[in-house]
Amino acid sequence: MSVWFNPSHAIEQTLRQVAATTEGFSADFEPGVRPADPKFGDYQANGVLGYAKKNDLNPRELGQKLIDAALASGQFDPELIELALAGPGFINFKLSNTFLWQWQLDYSTKADYQSGAKELKQGRRIVIDYPSANTAKQAHIGHLRPMVIGQAIARLLDFCGADLIRDNHIGDWGTNFGTLIMKIKHEGIDLTTLGDDALVTLDKLYKEGSALESKQPELRDVSRNELVKLQNGDLENTRIWKQIVEISKVAFDKLFVQMGVEVDITLGESFYRDKVQRIYDELTEVGLAEESEGALVVWHDEVKKFSRDNERPYPFNIRKSDGASNYASTDLATVLYRVREFKAEEIIYLTDARQQDHFQLLFLTTKKWFKAKGYPLPEMSHVFWGTILGADKKPFKTKSGESIKLQELLDEARSRAYEVVTAKNPDLPEDERRAIAESVGVGAMKYADLSSNRTQDYVFSWDRLLSFEGNTAPYLLYAIARINSIFRKVGLDPEAPIEGASPAETEAELILARKLMGFVTALELTLNDLRPHFLCTYLYELAGAYSGFYNADKVMVDDEAVKARRLILCARTRTILKTGLELLGLKPLERM
Ligand code: ARG
Repeated sequence: MSVWFNPSHAIEQTLRQVAATTEGFSADFEPGVRPADPKFGDYQANGVLGYAKKNDLNPRELGQKLIDAALASGQFDPELIELALAGPGFINFKLSNTFLWQWQLDYSTKADYQSGAKELKQGRRIVIDYPSANTAKQAHIGHLRPMVIGQAIARLLDFCGADLIRDNHIGDWGTNFGTLIMKIKHEGIDLTTLGDDALVTLDKLYKEGSALESKQPELRDVSRNELVKLQNGDLENTRIWKQIVEISKVAFDKLFVQMGVEVDITLGESFYRDKVQRIYDELTEVGLAEESEGALVVWHDEVKKFSRDNERPYPFNIRKSDGASNYASTDLATVLYRVREFKAEEIIYLTDARQQDHFQLLFLTTKKWFKAKGYPLPEMSHVFWGTILGADKKPFKTKSGESIKLQELLDEARSRAYEVVTAKNPDLPEDERRAIAESVGVGAMKYADLSSNRTQDYVFSWDRLLSFEGNTAPYLLYAIARINSIFRKVGLDPEAPIEGASPAETEAELILARKLMGFVTALELTLNDLRPHFLCTYLYELAGAYSGFYNADKVMVDDEAVKARRLILCARTRTILKTGLELLGLKPLERM
């Protein structure tokens, strides 16, 4: 006997099959299976209701017919799952204790969970656009969320079977290069001599350059001219630009290693600069783009949100009045490139909430343009987030009001975690305490970011994120370490099979077993909305169910069969907590 890894999917598919040969149902019937209110069962199918209404049939009669057919099909073993008609025509599904236990036996390792989870994304070709920072600027706290949220979503998609491309769409082609090149030439600086802190210097040079422009407005023309020269391929400016981009890449790569950010390709905005002409041509040809005050724009009159009072909504500006390409034109070229070269079926963009309007207009323009040209339209979504706030509920800044550098934040996370670990475990060797501090410190920062609903702002607090209580990384990492110590005590490998167990029986065991199975639903919810905090909440609840079980039922009992089954529950909790945290980019430890 073996049971479904993902019952809600399996029920959905099976019901669809059954309905196809059942009188009263046609091919467009959607079972609509979802996790149910636990009072009624584990899952509920509510598709019969709407279907009956649409076809003028009696929903309860139709529901009963489907239940009878489902049972007759032999695909729902009454020992494993119970079906019941409820309310105006719902079907409730309750998994038996036998099912719950069999699930624990069938799915034990990370690889088992992954092979089950793979059906969620099934080889779907997805491009994830992250962390996509701008060049020539030092990474600051604003770069934390794209890295943290992006890598978590990427890992989740990959785990769930997506055929993923992580595309770092860096901003390497903006007006700031004019100012920067002006300043560099003005000072006669040789970028090759800047050394390790080159990016810090570039950051400073840019700020000084802008300040200079404010004082001497005639320099603006000089900067603009440097930019035009760069755009026209001037050798000297191209050489300087390449150096700037290289310096930025090296600095970002250093952060990526510390943050666990993986990218497959880096194709910045500059890569698309020779691909924008086609965009202007095609959008004009299909009647979407038109000239307006010298610029090329696409109007979307239906988007009322972009209009003030009685004005026409502002358009998507795809070419500046001086003829230069912009963020919109390169982004349109990027969509086409991803669809043609990567065969993207889905594109996910990650930026902060301020770019919502840009992406709304980008998606709308793409939809109309692709439809007119008959190109396959990928699904596109914008994953955005709120601001990280300080204790004063204002954007988190240094005391002097500057943005906090990401590297400083990481260093502080490590040193604070080191203090916490040392206070808790002064006897551990120093290098082990350092390793723990690395995992806990950086992990805690990531987890605090991921566990709050991303669209909301959150308050950054070292005390809270490093606390061993509540929905935090230290709490969850510690839960894993405690399970590890149980296995060390009994002298067993938590990953090895445990023989001779009797099935779960006590209330606490069954609650935990059911919660363990909920991992699949948590993955699904997280992916549906691309909100990692669903997975965090689940892991926190799992740790809670585990401590409920641990407090209620002794693991080290004399009865070998009972001991074995309790050890199985400990092992599964460990594997799921570990798998979940790893998907979020944390590094669980053997001991803490
Ligand atoms: N470089 C942009 C920024 O830092 C984010 C790019 C997001 N991706 C995109 N295809 N527009 O704001």
